[in-house]
Amino acid sequence: MMSNSKKKIVLFASGSGSNAENIVQYFAPLNNITISVLYCNVAHAVVIKRMKRLGIPTEIITKHSLHHSNNLLRKLKELKPDLIVLAGFLWKIPLPIVSSFTNKIINIHPSLLPKYGGKGMYGQKVHEAVIRSKENKSGITIHYVNEDYDKGAIIFQKETVVSSNDTPETLADKIHELEFKYFPTTIHQLLSS
Ligand code: GRF
Repeated sequence: MMSNSKKKIVLFASGSGSNAENIVQYFAPLNNITISVLYCNVAHAVVIKRMKRLGIPTEIITKHSLHHSNNLLRKLKELKPDLIVLAGFLWKIPLPIVSSFTNKIINIHPSLLPKYGGKGMYGQKVHEAVIRSKENKSGITIHYVNEDYDKGAIIFQKETVVSSNDTPETLADKIHELEFKYFPTTIHQLLSS
């Protein structure tokens, strides 16, 4: 029985993938949780190199494979992941996938949702908007993925202070620090509950 109880995580990422790497490293020593594959929509993304170095299989997906064929959905159904983790993945997950994996897809967003979320709000754009609005705090939100961008139920949030001399870059560093600390532990908790 024990040998069948390995939990599977599927990652999706589009860019640098420092969160994806951090997640892989966090789970590497745990033999009851494995990272099955990382799907990426950008062939030259840095995350691909990171995964190659870490020995994690990668697959490139196109808009077509995401939206107009059942290939990806079929593969995911075969894989039976316990959790699908979007770690900086910039495309919307189509409804057939969302509805096949209810409460099994989570995303991390670099602001305190519902503030600074929605279409077009990603990466540096979020931090620029936070600074422009002179917010005195920002943070991270880990949430379930539903059919609307950044609107699924919130699982976890953590704040950080935004000071008057913060730039989008320094704020991004603070946010990454929170993400590195709390994203893997939140995933771990979800898989243990
Ligand atoms: C993170 O800040 C994450 O919250 C957002 O995109 C960024 C990805 O960074 N969705 P990285 O690719 O993991 O370095």
